[in-house]
Amino acid sequence: TILVVDFGSQVTQLIARRVREAGVYSEIAPFTQAEEAFERLKPKGIILSGGPESVTVEGAPSVPQYLLEAGIPIFGICYGQQVMANQLGGSVEAGDSGEFGRAFLEVVGECTLFDGLWKPGETHQVWMSHGDKVRALPEGFEVVAKSPGAPFALVADEGRKFYGMQFHPEVVHTPDGGKLIANFARHVCGIAEDWSMAEFREQKIAEIREQVGDGKVICGLSGGVDSAVAAVLIHEAIGDQLTCVFVDHGLLRAEEASQVVGLFRGHYNIPLVHVDAEDMFLAGLAGVTDPEAKRKFIGKTFIDVFEAEAKTIGGADFLAQGTLYPDVIESVSFTGGPSVTIKSHHNVGGLPERMNMKLVEPLRELFKDEVRELGRELGLPDAFVGRHPFPGPGLAIRIPGEVTKEACDILRKADRIYLEEIRKAGLYDAIWQAFAVLLPVRTVGVMGDYRTYDRVCGLRAVTSTDGMTADVYPFDGSFLSSVATRIVNEVKGINRVVYDYTSKPPGTIEWE
Ligand code: XMP
Repeated sequence: TILVVDFGSQVTQLIARRVREAGVYSEIAPFTQAEEAFERLKPKGIILSGGPESVTVEGAPSVPQYLLEAGIPIFGICYGQQVMANQLGGSVEAGDSGEFGRAFLEVVGECTLFDGLWKPGETHQVWMSHGDKVRALPEGFEVVAKSPGAPFALVADEGRKFYGMQFHPEVVHTPDGGKLIANFARHVCGIAEDWSMAEFREQKIAEIREQVGDGKVICGLSGGVDSAVAAVLIHEAIGDQLTCVFVDHGLLRAEEASQVVGLFRGHYNIPLVHVDAEDMFLAGLAGVTDPEAKRKFIGKTFIDVFEAEAKTIGGADFLAQGTLYPDVIESVSFTGGPSVTIKSHHNVGGLPERMNMKLVEPLRELFKDEVRELGRELGLPDAFVGRHPFPGPGLAIRIPGEVTKEACDILRKADRIYLEEIRKAGLYDAIWQAFAVLLPVRTVGVMGDYRTYDRVCGLRAVTSTDGMTADVYPFDGSFLSSVATRIVNEVKGINRVVYDYTSKPPGTIEWE
C-alpha cells in the first residue's frame, strides 16, 4: 500500500489513480489524519500531495514528524516537496510570480525514479503549477533534474529514499509522470502488483454488502454512464434489494430517457421506476440565471423527488449515486482538506442536510475511464459505456441565462445534429465530450432576404482522459462549417454558430 497524504491539491486523486495504474493499492488521507492512516495501513511508501498553501506562512500544514522518521520512502510533489524540504532543514521562499504550464527538464543525475525511463543529458516535458519554491536543500539531497525556472525541479536523497519534485507528475501533461510514480511504487518501495479492476469489483461488492446488510437501496439514474455502472454493480452485490429510480428532469438529450429505460428494464431486468418530473424542474428553474443557483436547485429537487419516491416504494434506507471523483473534488475537498470550490456538482452540492437516507457511492474514488473499464468488466454494452459524459444538471448548465422548455427543445435539436455529424465523420470515440450550448444573446442575421434576430449556439468538443484537464478538439474548418450550416438551416431559433476554443484550465468543460 501507498499512503497519499493530501494537502488540498485539486488533483490529489490523480496521484492515487496513477498508483492504481501501476497495479498498486493506495489510499488518501488528509494531512490531519495521516498518522492514524499510517498506523492502520502500514504503507510501504508515502506520497505527499501538492496544495494551495504556502509553507512560508505561519501555521501552514505540515507532515507529521513521525512519518518523516518512519524509515520508509517518501515522494513529495510541489507543496509536498516544499514542506518536506522545510521540515528536514532546507528552506523555501515565497514566489512573487508563479510558474504554470509546460516546462522542460534537463536530467542532470541518476535516480531510481528514472529506471528504464530517463538518462542524464535528456530533456523531458513536465507540468508546473506553483508559486513558492525550494531555496536550499536539506542535507543528503541532490538535484537530479532541473529547468531554467526551477533549479530544484527534482531532488533525491537516495540514502533515505526521499524524493521531491516541483512539477506535477500526476497530470497527463507530464507524459512520463505516471511512470515516475510507478517506479516509486514498484522499484523504490518494492511493492508487487496487488490491484486490478476485477479486484476493485470484488472489493466494492463486499463493501456494499457490508454497508447495506439486508437494507433496501434506491439508486438514482441520471441517464449517464456513471449512475448506470453504479446501479449494475450494486445490483450484482444485493440483487433486488435495489430499486432504480430514473428521475427524468426534462433536461436530458434527445432520446436519452428511452435508452436508459430500455437497458435497465429490457436488458438487465433491474426494477426501475421512471418519474417524469420535467414540469417540476422547469417551473423551479423559471427566472433562475445564476449557475450555482441552478445547480443547487436541481441537486436539491433531484433528492426531493427521490425522497418522495423512496416513501412510495417504502422502507429504503440507502440512496445510491454514481458520484465520481471529479464531481467530489470540484465540490469540496475529497478528504475534508483545504481545496477551493469551483462548481457545486450535482450529486454532492445539492444534498440537503435533512436527508434521511444514507449514501452509497461506490464510484467515489474513480475517474471516468476507470468507470468505463468497470462497466466493461460488469458486461455493460460497449456503445453504452463509451457514451460521452453528461452532467447531472443536464441541459440547464448548457443554457446560460434562463432555462425554458423552448430553449431546451432548440438545444436538443442543435446538439443532435452536431453529434450526428461527429459520428458520421467517425470522430465520436476520439472526443471526450462534445455538445452544443445555447446562449442568451441574440444577433442579427440574414436568411432569404429577411432579417433574422435569433440566438447563438456554441459548440464545444474536448479531449481529456479524466475531465480534470482538457484540450480543445481541433476540427477541420470545413467540418465545423458544415455543422454550422446544418444547425442554422434546420433549427428554428438559432441563426449563428460559434466554436469554443478554450482549454481546461483556464476554462471548464461545461459553460456553467
Ligand atoms: P467541468 O465543467 O467542471 O466538468 O470542467 C468536468 C466534467 O464533469 C462533468 N460535470 C458534471 N457531472 N454532475 C456530474 O455528474 C455535475 O454537476 C457536473 N458538472 C460537470 C462535465 O460534463 C465534465 O465531463
